[in-house]
Amino acid sequence: MTEDPKSAWKAGAGLSRRGFLHAGAAGLAGVPLAGCTAAPDSGDSGRRPALTRPEGVEDDAWSHIREHFILQPGTAYMNNASLGMPPASVAEAVGAGYEALSRDPLRGKNELGAFIASNVVPRMAAYLGAATDEIVLTRNASEALHMGTVGIRLERGDEVLVTSQEHPAGRRPWDYRAAQDGIKVNTVFVPSPLESGEQAIGLVEEALTPATRVIAFCHVTRGGHLYPVRGLCSLARERGIVSHVDGAQAVGMFPVDLHALGCDTYSASLHKWLLGPMGTGVFFVRAGARDRVGSAFAPDGEGGMAAYQPPGTSSLPLRAALAASLDLAEAMGPGNVAARTRHLSDYLKARLAALQGVTILSGATPATSCPGSTIFEQEGVDAVEAVGLVAQRGRIHIDEHQRDGHNAIRISTHVYNTTGEIDRLVDVLQTLSP
Ligand SMILES: Cc1ncc(COP(=O)(O)O)c(C=O)c1O
Repeated sequence: MTEDPKSAWKAGAGLSRRGFLHAGAAGLAGVPLAGCTAAPDSGDSGRRPALTRPEGVEDDAWSHIREHFILQPGTAYMNNASLGMPPASVAEAVGAGYEALSRDPLRGKNELGAFIASNVVPRMAAYLGAATDEIVLTRNASEALHMGTVGIRLERGDEVLVTSQEHPAGRRPWDYRAAQDGIKVNTVFVPSPLESGEQAIGLVEEALTPATRVIAFCHVTRGGHLYPVRGLCSLARERGIVSHVDGAQAVGMFPVDLHALGCDTYSASLHKWLLGPMGTGVFFVRAGARDRVGSAFAPDGEGGMAAYQPPGTSSLPLRAALAASLDLAEAMGPGNVAARTRHLSDYLKARLAALQGVTILSGATPATSCPGSTIFEQEGVDAVEAVGLVAQRGRIHIDEHQRDGHNAIRISTHVYNTTGEIDRLVDVLQTLSP
């Protein structure tokens, strides 16, 4: 055990970006942890295949990635849009972090904190195309969205435009501000599915008024519709309006480059498509937008991005374990993840299209539908009941999307799903039709 309280985590940070968690079997398990006489057992990590980049989109090319997940055999998980299924390395890293805290709380806390600052945050920023001092980690997208909403400087009478497809986490804090601060929240109806990105931009543009100061919208909606974020942000910028983007359903599913998107704030979950530990998210404020986005934690506006970080206790083991999620994400490559998830969704859509009574509601083109989530209605089938029946009959976990006027079933597949699992799903769906 080393005398320098930060050395263990520094040692990790000094390894290659992908290397830290592999240096020791389960990531955090491999370095001398605070107070540990022995590093926690890494379980099966030594038997897992190397994290090499898959070539192509077929199941075979991704089978070694699948081996990094410990889902119980016989179950298929297709509900990533609700909660991602973290790889074993993430679960092990969370355990190792808590063990460090249990063995020596003060030292564990210092070491975890130093590791997060020196490794996780810079890597996360790079992964998102942001500068290190433009992001802070949060507990989820909701917290980040709330921080942005309460922070954006507005005056009585100012207007905010939100779309009809926002998650309550993206909508309700605005309603709160309307009641408290006398701002006006306008809602623009966006159809599900979108016809095109231009359609969404046109609708938003028409709904702007001279008093609009913020446009708040999703990158990907809960139904999997892909919004033209770059175009919407550029429209906002041209009009001097703040763009406040909800990326909960985007980060980890396809490449996200925040500088290229041009948004002022961006909030995301890291426990969905990035497969991070449950209870992790990120909040981005573009460096040039800080004067328009304050922080409740720094009323004087001082402190750079650190001013947005809630000063209280946070779950350091969860945040440190994001290094393991990044290891996986970086090894796979965000573009490859998008291609693989798109391949699986295309396969699903082709199988669904051949079923009697099924209407696919996802956007018809990749420009309007995200790679990983698919929604559809099945004649005579209640979507909420379908979720239970599919779990019962096929041990397959899916979700419903009874919103935006739909009675839809939502299937959200990630890289580790297979075409065989999709075939199984389609077989079970067929048993649901009256
Ligand atoms: C579009 C969208 N925004 C926000 C959220 C909230 O995310 P979190 O659970 O990370 O707060 C979700 C969760 O499903 C979502 O789909």
